[in-house]
Amino acid sequence: MTRLDKFLCDEGFGARKEVKALIKSGKVKVNGETAKSPETKIDDNAAVSVNGAEVKTQSSIYIIMNKPKGVVCASRDSLHKTVFDILPPEMKKKDLFTVGRLDIDTTGLLIITNDGDLSHRLLSPKHHAEKEYYVEGKGKFNPNSKEIFEEGLPWGKGRLKPARLEVISNDAENVKASLTITEGKFHQVKRMFYAVGIEVTELKRVRFGGLCLPPDIEEGEARYLTSDEEAVLKGKFELHTLLSEGLRDIAENRVQPFDKAMAEIKENL
Ligand code: URA
Repeated sequence: MTRLDKFLCDEGFGARKEVKALIKSGKVKVNGETAKSPETKIDDNAAVSVNGAEVKTQSSIYIIMNKPKGVVCASRDSLHKTVFDILPPEMKKKDLFTVGRLDIDTTGLLIITNDGDLSHRLLSPKHHAEKEYYVEGKGKFNPNSKEIFEEGLPWGKGRLKPARLEVISNDAENVKASLTITEGKFHQVKRMFYAVGIEVTELKRVRFGGLCLPPDIEEGEARYLTSDEEAVLKGKFELHTLLSEGLRDIAENRVQPFDKAMAEIKENL
């Protein structure tokens, strides 16, 4: 059992004095009842909400954000807002970090968690978690760009792992494409495109492993992963398993297959 004020301080709602004022204002509920005292004792199963938003009490947290441009994946930054600054207050917990990083001008799917083991697994080169990006750029693919990426582009003293390029359009001066990679090297997508003569102008991550960017999250928004999405991210089941088990609703709506996500992106172009 923990005191409500201590719990809210630990969850990042401010110093003890601020939290006491928050409780006094009537905005905090425990198990559906407005909390009257900072000394209220709560257990691990208590449902706590602030301003109607649930405060997760579980120890592992998985947040999915549709990262907007202009914010950085860092715990603090003297010039720019960070992805943590733009989280809703009830999600601002201690010890959160991003699973990998997206550049300041990259948008799309970003996982924020306190689960170091999962992050390590998803980022480990052994795990080969696919990352899929929607890319726009200035330039033109030549006929062998796809093969060059598939073979593994020369990179420093070695080579990149094979990457999958799907060309959406390849006009005289502009390209639209999707690129799937299994690594996460510094500015990897931009540098790969540059190597085949294209300057990236828009970059959006649309998939991480089996998890696609869900359509309900606008740029700049974040929410907790549902338990199904969490399982997909952890590799407990893949989309094809969901489909074969008849869980079409989950597969098609909650964890959006990539072709559907791409169709939507194309529709909004
Ligand atoms: N590759 C890049 O170049 N930038 C990103 O943000 C992600 C992948």
